[in-house]
Amino acid sequence: MISKLTSDKVKERADIVEVVGDYVPLKKKGQNMWACCPFHGEKSPSFSVSPSKQIYKCFGCGKAGDSIQFVMDIEGVGFQEAIRHLAGKYGIEVEEDEARTPEQNLEQNERESLFIALNFAKDFFVKNLQTEEGRAIGLSYFKERGFNPQIIEKFDLGYAMDGWDYFLKAAKAAGFEEDILLKAGLILQKEGDPSRLYDRFRGRVTFSIHNISGKPIGFGARILTKDKNQPKYINSPETPIYHKSDVLYGMFQAKKAIRDFDNCFLVEGYTDVISMHLSGIENVVSSSGTSLTDGQIKLIKRFTNQVTVLYDGDAAGIKASIRGIDLLLEGGLNVKAVVFPDGDDPDSFSRKVGSQAFQDYLKENSRDFIGFKIGLYQEEFEKNPIRKAEVIREIVQSIGKIPDPIIRSVYTKEASGLLEIEEEIIHTELNKSLIKSQKEHFQKAKEEAEAEEKLEELVPSKNLLSVEDTLRIQEKETIRLLLNYGWKKLDDEDLHLCHYLMSETADIVFFTPVYQKILKIYRDSLSNGTIPTTDFFVSYSDAEIRQEVIDLISPRHEVSVHWLDRHQIFITTESDDLAGTAFKSILRLKRRLVHKMMDEAKQKIKSAEHEHFDADKVYELQQVYFELKKVQLQIDKELGIVIG
Ligand code: UTP
Ligand code: MN
Repeated sequence: MISKLTSDKVKERADIVEVVGDYVPLKKKGQNMWACCPFHGEKSPSFSVSPSKQIYKCFGCGKAGDSIQFVMDIEGVGFQEAIRHLAGKYGIEVEEDEARTPEQNLEQNERESLFIALNFAKDFFVKNLQTEEGRAIGLSYFKERGFNPQIIEKFDLGYAMDGWDYFLKAAKAAGFEEDILLKAGLILQKEGDPSRLYDRFRGRVTFSIHNISGKPIGFGARILTKDKNQPKYINSPETPIYHKSDVLYGMFQAKKAIRDFDNCFLVEGYTDVISMHLSGIENVVSSSGTSLTDGQIKLIKRFTNQVTVLYDGDAAGIKASIRGIDLLLEGGLNVKAVVFPDGDDPDSFSRKVGSQAFQDYLKENSRDFIGFKIGLYQEEFEKNPIRKAEVIREIVQSIGKIPDPIIRSVYTKEASGLLEIEEEIIHTELNKSLIKSQKEHFQKAKEEAEAEEKLEELVPSKNLLSVEDTLRIQEKETIRLLLNYGWKKLDDEDLHLCHYLMSETADIVFFTPVYQKILKIYRDSLSNGTIPTTDFFVSYSDAEIRQEVIDLISPRHEVSVHWLDRHQIFITTESDDLAGTAFKSILRLKRRLVHKMMDEAKQKIKSAEHEHFDADKVYELQQVYFELKKVQLQIDKELGIVIG
């Protein structure tokens, strides 16, 4: 347990603006500071920090608290860990009331235990570098690569001993449970004999992977031999505290510089990041050899909107990895690129030319993505005009990914200049490409909707009722409520059921003619000031209406439960809760109605696509469809709440 004195010191010292500022860029507006909330996605800031009250509050998601609460929320840790974290930030010595016993280690929640285990492993690997074996093998390797003691410390570089269980033994001696070490990805079970445990990282140098507040959450371990049968790197697996798709290597060491320079360099490997630091460039992160994810792009966007991708100098490799650029563009980032001479990566090139020349090279060779992409294909299409058309299409596709129309038009101009073609032609291509991606988007939504509908009607297809049938049944149900209970007052409210139903169906025309007729008669009568009785309908002149009403008001009118199961139609059984019954019934009616309209929209889209292709019409109908889908989801939500 951390002593009261320590936590008091931390509370006194931790300034809310500084603490929050480590995670999100704050802008002053009036008394308070503002940012986009780190706890929920948003485009305009509703997250406020009050320096005078020393609290934060998000008006979007409601999260609020002081510095310590903030650290607990954003790191997903408990109070003790939050204090420890802030003590580290402010250089406050942590006083423990008692040393942690193995029992206390056990009691911690799992996440905290994992953090502690990972930190223990980090310390262990770092210390190994000073052992005889570590110095001879690990340290000398780092030295050979030009890594100095400062950089080794800055990145928590280490060494995993060459043996089966050096780490396991040390961790157990320190009171760690095997179970936690397994969950942390630090040890492995022997195949075929799970009771035999051994170290995951053996005889390799280790690169600690940190979360953005600097806690170790995983490792990459590099082989030191040229053994082709072994993977070059062995990495930590996914764990509850290491979600690879949300992590960028080097972000902790880079975040301040990224914000200061308002740019983030993106490289491939661990060693590229470290070499760039050695060259005096700190705003650099690595995707660790994999393609970028949405989570990683979001992470970058917390610090800057500008990314400069650094590519190794071989054209084939670049073309293979260029998809990453589109993802960055889609994320709304400005993208630049730098290509190194053939055969060099940032690591080798910076060592070759030295810091100053390296920095100059980055400045002089950084191009925006249009220039970069065009340059990449220039040689090819100058020889081959057909290739040029393909390149144009490719460039246009990338421009189409940019969410901001103004930036899109800037790039359109530039591309037109560089490719020496009229802007108008690019515009036309761009529109085609936008419609195409709209179409893909629509296709996906359609498939999802269909899958959903299938799920909803879990019945063999021969028993499926058509959309019209289910709508008719739901209409019937509404009329039945109206006829039987229209005169009743809804509980607690001075409102007749019939008025409620009338207002809810005011802009609906029933699909089934006879129900539409009854509805109209009812409505007319109400506007004359009388609630029509069942007798009135039973003696009505129109035989069809008489028949229907008699059917609906007779007590034996019951829809078999069988139906309900077979067709997933909800027929309300009246309870005392007439208001709820009516409310649900109306929602279900509307839901069916929306389904029918979606069906019709789909049909129309099909014919606009196939029978007489009309892009504008398709686009317009797709918008209609999406709007309907939104309504349906809204109704589902409300029904879910009511039923639940
Ligand atoms: P590289 O092969 O370029 O490694 O892979 P590197 O880090 O630059 O190492 P050096 O400079 O050749 O010694 C780039 C990144 O891909 C991931 C690692 O994150 C590496 O940094 N990678 C590569 C793996 O995860 N496993 C591998 O086997 C290879
Ligand atoms: Mn490399």
